[in-house]
Amino acid sequence: MKTLVKNGTIITSTNEFKADILIENEKISMIGNDLSVGCDKVIDAEGKYVLPGGVDNHSHFEALNTDGVTTNAGYDTTWVALKGGTTTIVDFCTNEPGMNLMDSVDYRLNVRSKGKLAPDMAMHACCTDYTEETLDEIPKLVEFGIPTMKLFLAYKPTPLYMDDYKLLKCLKKAGECGMTMMVHAENPDVLDVERNAMAEKGCLAPKYHYMTRPPYGEAEAVSRAIRFADATDCPLCVVHVSCIEAAQVIQEARAKGSLVIGETCPHYLVLDKHKMDDPDFDQACRWVCSPALRDKEDQEYLWKCLNHDWISIVGSDNSSIPLYQKHWGEEDFRAIPNGCPGAGDRLNALWTYGVEKGKITKQKLVDIYATLPAKLNGIFPQKGAIDIGSDGDLVIFDPEYKGTITVESNPTGIEYNVFEGMEQIGRADTVLLRGEVVVENGEYLDKPVFGRFVPGKPYGLAYELKK
Ligand code: URP
Ligand code: ZN
Ligand code: ZN
Ligand code: ZN
Repeated sequence: MKTLVKNGTIITSTNEFKADILIENEKISMIGNDLSVGCDKVIDAEGKYVLPGGVDNHSHFEALNTDGVTTNAGYDTTWVALKGGTTTIVDFCTNEPGMNLMDSVDYRLNVRSKGKLAPDMAMHACCTDYTEETLDEIPKLVEFGIPTMKLFLAYKPTPLYMDDYKLLKCLKKAGECGMTMMVHAENPDVLDVERNAMAEKGCLAPKYHYMTRPPYGEAEAVSRAIRFADATDCPLCVVHVSCIEAAQVIQEARAKGSLVIGETCPHYLVLDKHKMDDPDFDQACRWVCSPALRDKEDQEYLWKCLNHDWISIVGSDNSSIPLYQKHWGEEDFRAIPNGCPGAGDRLNALWTYGVEKGKITKQKLVDIYATLPAKLNGIFPQKGAIDIGSDGDLVIFDPEYKGTITVESNPTGIEYNVFEGMEQIGRADTVLLRGEVVVENGEYLDKPVFGRFVPGKPYGLAYELKK
């Protein structure tokens, strides 16, 4: 199978040039001007940009499964990522009930996602049930192609929560085998004090979610995690950074040479906390995620951080939680499962509110949405690059498209889109996954799904900071 993409303007993380791209047997085989070879398919990309397929560093396509309530829309909704220009998701594999991480990975790959994956998928382990066996599993996960693991420093008192003892033990082991540790950084006791105080006053509306997750609680946990990571020589990725205070801790640590990579998400870049002020519980609960949405000033600072590489990656943190699960019991902010959908809107948000507003360049967009996440996960240059030998994952981007985001135009796999009503400029017009056209005219072609597991190599991006 040979596919030729002609006349497009290629954008990479460092460059912009006009050239044709030939994909043969799933891989890019030629890049050059006026390529004329016998092909099965020719795509004219005149007037369009050609970007590497997006790599989403952060998705939860299935439940965290700890409260018995949340069951995020599953792997059969992963096509929403492809439609939005993401060809590789990096999904979190939590402990299945009663299973260790290696068995959970096997179960995810061979049972839960089997026959359902639309994009390709790499994986992060996500320890939600620490035992002493966890430490023995770390080298096995790395060997298997999962060189990253997330620990929750919040969500006390659920089994997700990792105290300092567990954090430290995992960091020591991970640093020995080339794993990058990822942390959800919020101080659990700050949350408890604030949340309980509000609840005692009878303040239970969704807006009390953001009022009880203060930036200092996030910044404290980020700074503790970095200090531990430094001491154990284990590279760290701080996921979903939401505020100035936390971003500044990372900025300072990087200046001092700490091996730390920051990730933020589209919702922290373009939405603010007042979305949760709606008195209608069923409206306001949609934006409940952790850390909480912040203020306009935080958004501005996060864009600045991306430009300085103080924060290097934008992941969606996709958690498509249907409304009946967001509001499953009492109207109490503490009962709302955390997370927002967004796997399909990462590129849209970065283009419309970043590139179009002059906040980031097109090259920076490619870097934070594809190249650097691929490097963090050890799947570069197979993914996240337009290069000879890379997978034929391409987004043919139409900068002329104009629209308004709705859940119909930008599906999430559930009944709502948290970016509903916002303007959108540009869209992924055509998307190729390993040379196969999977999106055409902005619509997902409902082909037999064929996403595959992509194993990652250890010693990813954060280790590169080691000089
Ligand atoms: O609110 C969020 N972020 N939910 C998803 C789970 C996590 O913490 O990443
Ligand atoms: Zn998290
Ligand atoms: Zn998450
Ligand atoms: Zn309801």
